[in-house]
Amino acid sequence: MATQSNATMDKIISLCRRRGFIFQSSEIYGGLNACYDYGPLGVELKRNIKDFWWNWMVGRRSDIVGLDASILMAPRVWEASGHVAGFTDPLVDCKVCKHRFRADMIVDPGKCPDCGGALTDIRQFNLMFKTFMGPVEDSASVVYLRPETAQGIYVNYKNVLDSSRLKIPFGIGQIGKAFRNEITTENFIFRTREFEQMEMQYFVQPGSDREWFEYWKADRQSYYQALGIHPAKVRFHEHGKDELAHYAAAAFDIQYEFPFGWKELEGIHNRTDFDLKRHQEYSGKDMIYFDEVTRERYLPYIIEASAGADRTLLCVLSDAFEEQELEKDTRTVLHFHPAIAPIKVGIFPLVKKDGMPEVARKIEAALKPHFPVFYDESGAVGRRYRRQDEIGTPFCVTVDTETLQNDTVTIRDRDTMQQERIGIDDLFQFVYGKMQV
Ligand code: GAP
Repeated sequence: MATQSNATMDKIISLCRRRGFIFQSSEIYGGLNACYDYGPLGVELKRNIKDFWWNWMVGRRSDIVGLDASILMAPRVWEASGHVAGFTDPLVDCKVCKHRFRADMIVDPGKCPDCGGALTDIRQFNLMFKTFMGPVEDSASVVYLRPETAQGIYVNYKNVLDSSRLKIPFGIGQIGKAFRNEITTENFIFRTREFEQMEMQYFVQPGSDREWFEYWKADRQSYYQALGIHPAKVRFHEHGKDELAHYAAAAFDIQYEFPFGWKELEGIHNRTDFDLKRHQEYSGKDMIYFDEVTRERYLPYIIEASAGADRTLLCVLSDAFEEQELEKDTRTVLHFHPAIAPIKVGIFPLVKKDGMPEVARKIEAALKPHFPVFYDESGAVGRRYRRQDEIGTPFCVTVDTETLQNDTVTIRDRDTMQQERIGIDDLFQFVYGKMQV
């Protein structure tokens, strides 16, 4: 891991574009504001982040199961959840330049931050994207793109309970797209209108909710450490009464120190029985949990851990980025944890002759079914190392003259730049071992 990241947003955005992590959406048409496409390396990185989350929250636990609910849901869901009435941001327009702002982000009240012009009164603006289901565009066919994945879990809580042997406390995890018609988007992929959430809802007995809230705060902190994020750049921020979402009795953000300052990475909320109570009321369906041991009946409380996949990716990129001034040049390196690095191993023949490419290709064929590797025979080895450092490949294997004599290769560590010799047959175990958390 880097001792200290020295990322700037300009450097990250330029690297992402140059090396195929992230592109502007619809670029050939001039781009669509705040929408992004993940390129070949970005898609691997994002998949790895989501897998890492899934394994941490669902895979390794027996009290949490997964779900994949649809993005479009019955509109009543969003009335019950409070989003139709209350999922709003305060909006102001500049009367002169016509730019729009979130009123709570204006530093000098009443003055446009762009031109100094006068601002309109505040209006509440609902952040949900509306569309129509079916061929008729009338109010009866309005549906919303979900602004959070959580509601898909709440409306399925009884289905999951009835079809599994879970008992409270238990959780349901989900990863999926969410959409918010944000008034202002900012900082590359930090705040966009289409994004992915990784959410886990933990159902507990009322009265035990505070204890479980503390448990999840601690667990989520360990998670970011396991992901390889510098601990000094992660902190908690407790929501004051004026910051709390309409559903939350208590909330902590996990914040990360991005190049543009400390910002929310994940929200941990005590949602009490707010959501289940509302769905019970609006749907008329019984949401009560029956505890077979104590014979008690109650509406469970819910502790939520909600992280953004895209925001985590930006955090991981910012945290891993380092520009090192070396004797002869500058080395750009992404110090990703091997578990999330898009490419795990660069494979190089030292020269393009003497049978070295053939051996290197054999190594590539042996490793490729297990994890992404990249074969490269062009240019000096030093330059090939640099190309892999820049995309965060943790290991580079070089086939040289000695390989032809004793079936060993050099394996170079991205962070220390040290090389060691190991047998070709030991390569898989070596790399696989380093990928474990
Ligand atoms: N279900 C609770 C919920 O949605 P939130 O704090 O509004 O809570 C959770 O969102 C996480 O989703 C945030 O911490 C952030 O990582 C991500 N997120 C929210 N809005 C986003 C946006 N416009 N762009 C990217 N990520 C966003």
